[in-house]
Amino acid sequence: MSRRVHLLGTGGTIAGAQPDPRHAGYSAGVFPIERLLSAVPGLAELARLSWEQIVNIGSQDMDDSIWLALATRVNEHADGAAIDALLITHGTDTLEETAYFLSLVTANATPVVIVGAMRPATAISADGPGNLYNGVAVAADPRAPGRGTLLCMDGEIHRPRYAVKTSTMGANAFSSLLGGLVGVVQTGRVAWFEPAPAIRAATFSVAGLDRLPRVDVLIAHAGMNADLIDAAVAAGARGLVIAGVGSGNMSARAIARLADAAASGVAVVRSSRVPRSMVLRNGEVDDDRYGFVAARDLNPGKSRVLLQLALTTTNDTQLIQEVFERC
Ligand code: SIN
Repeated sequence: MSRRVHLLGTGGTIAGAQPDPRHAGYSAGVFPIERLLSAVPGLAELARLSWEQIVNIGSQDMDDSIWLALATRVNEHADGAAIDALLITHGTDTLEETAYFLSLVTANATPVVIVGAMRPATAISADGPGNLYNGVAVAADPRAPGRGTLLCMDGEIHRPRYAVKTSTMGANAFSSLLGGLVGVVQTGRVAWFEPAPAIRAATFSVAGLDRLPRVDVLIAHAGMNADLIDAAVAAGARGLVIAGVGSGNMSARAIARLADAAASGVAVVRSSRVPRSMVLRNGEVDDDRYGFVAARDLNPGKSRVLLQLALTTTNDTQLIQEVFERC
């Protein structure tokens, strides 16, 4: 009996349309999920499919309220008995953030595979159909349960914690930097899966939440002043993530103002704008003295996700640092 895979459509380039395939201009989030499925012959042989449309947007417009709706839907399906696995179609621009968010707020028993595409559905050699086909194969694979959320693009299966969009130019847009791949899928067959981890509950519960704490990301650069820090604090940010230079550093002016923000109760996390980086606590910056948190290898976008979730449970920077060591 084939496995039951339920699809949740959210838009993205995989659902995008080009008015003229000879020109680059296109709109993401145009075609509904059923239209994407109809472009993939042989899907019904991989799994029994059902689907629903959550939103149909470019993923630059993904936000906390859609994340919470998605988490609710995923957890409802996972807790029920009607499906075996979920697959989400999503734009690639913020796919890694959504995938990381879901990996933190869902248990890992039910597979949740997220796929996107770099070329719109109408493009010559669109990559969406192949990614959808392989994504369903991964979701339906008997070795998938126990792995929770997985990101599947261009035949590679990634953990959300480590997957990063590293290219805007080709179908192989994602890399797993420090973490390595979880598996490889080719033409509808999982060729290799690393051993599955133990079953675990969700790290954070978002049940009943209708919003997440506001966390802003600021990028450090030569000559960084403190004006945007002041603006974010004045706008009500409960947390700030700094995409620091090098290993999470920033100008003396910015450090001084962030230390004031931290003293007033705003959680300050130092990440790095460098793709391969390790921001160590009390490395170049004295986190103990300023009350900062070091993000280690977690990039700024994902540090924001983790800080938002951590702030739903605590304001204590020592505890938040522990969350960043663990998640
Ligand atoms: C988006 O993220 O929605 C647009 C870009 C893409 O899907 O590749």
